[in-house]
Amino acid sequence: MKQFTSVNDVEDISQLVASALALKESPYAHQNLGKNKTLGLVFLNPSLRTRLSTQKAALNLGMNVMVMNMDKEGWALETQDGVVMNGTTVEHIREAAAVMGQYCDVLGLRSFPKLISRDEDYNEDFFNKFIQYCGVPVVSLESATRHPLQSLADLVTIKETWKGTTKPKVVLAWAPHIKALPQAVPNSFSEWMCRAQAEGMLDFTIVQPKGYELNEDFTPGAKISHNIDEALKDADYIYVKNWSSYKEYGKVLTYPEGWMLTNERLKVTNDAKVMHCLPVRRDLELSSEVLDGPNSLVIQEAGNRLWAAQAVLKDVLERL
Ligand code: CP
Repeated sequence: MKQFTSVNDVEDISQLVASALALKESPYAHQNLGKNKTLGLVFLNPSLRTRLSTQKAALNLGMNVMVMNMDKEGWALETQDGVVMNGTTVEHIREAAAVMGQYCDVLGLRSFPKLISRDEDYNEDFFNKFIQYCGVPVVSLESATRHPLQSLADLVTIKETWKGTTKPKVVLAWAPHIKALPQAVPNSFSEWMCRAQAEGMLDFTIVQPKGYELNEDFTPGAKISHNIDEALKDADYIYVKNWSSYKEYGKVLTYPEGWMLTNERLKVTNDAKVMHCLPVRRDLELSSEVLDGPNSLVIQEAGNRLWAAQAVLKDVLERL
């Protein structure tokens, strides 16, 4: 792939999942592929998993890695054209992205939404301008609307743990939170699960309280529910995640009791495995008893971020 910003950049998701699992078996099988190639990782927001797993993935492929914490160490960026830069911004994205492209063969970028203007966030203005001006392949480390490296790792985790003979029932379940969080993770998870469902790999349901429905562009073919009891019935995987409202953009709406997943709730499932992208707020978004229990896949899932990133970088390097 020439860039990795969504599932739409991937020709064959099964092949990419297989590549990630093969790399998990043989991490250093392609350790010279990235020799003399440099990956630049540009963060405008905090990260633990994405930062470390993508660095490690690049090192396993023999790449050099540079990390830029743009929010803390870089100049304040201007993204609008035609403005006189006599305010707080110091450097225009046109020059900043182009310069980073001079030093790197591949760039990773993390840029969260502001959750103020739905149009601005969903137009992916910053991300698209960065891609346009940097001149090298870009791997998304999470954008305003998507987190594809996370979603690929999630699909890898389902693929490697599913031992059933029929298609697993996968449920994306909204969970409570005190802060307004982006829709990037659930949008992206849904997009990948819908593609996997279309390819006959699984059945996919989304359950949320009324008012928290995701943008329909990200949910083609998903079963949509507002009833947590019904949706969890016979589930094989529950993907727990909070997100703020898309309709009343960026707002935390009121919600009914009973949306935090507990062991009691798991009783109606098919002994469901529980996933979360992390970080997670214990006993607010997800109960400690589930997180610490035998059904939790969260650490394995986070571990698979490495193989997902390595599979993506390998594919990008092979096409440079
Ligand atoms: N899941 C995830 O992307 O984690 P970080 O924000 O820590 O990178």
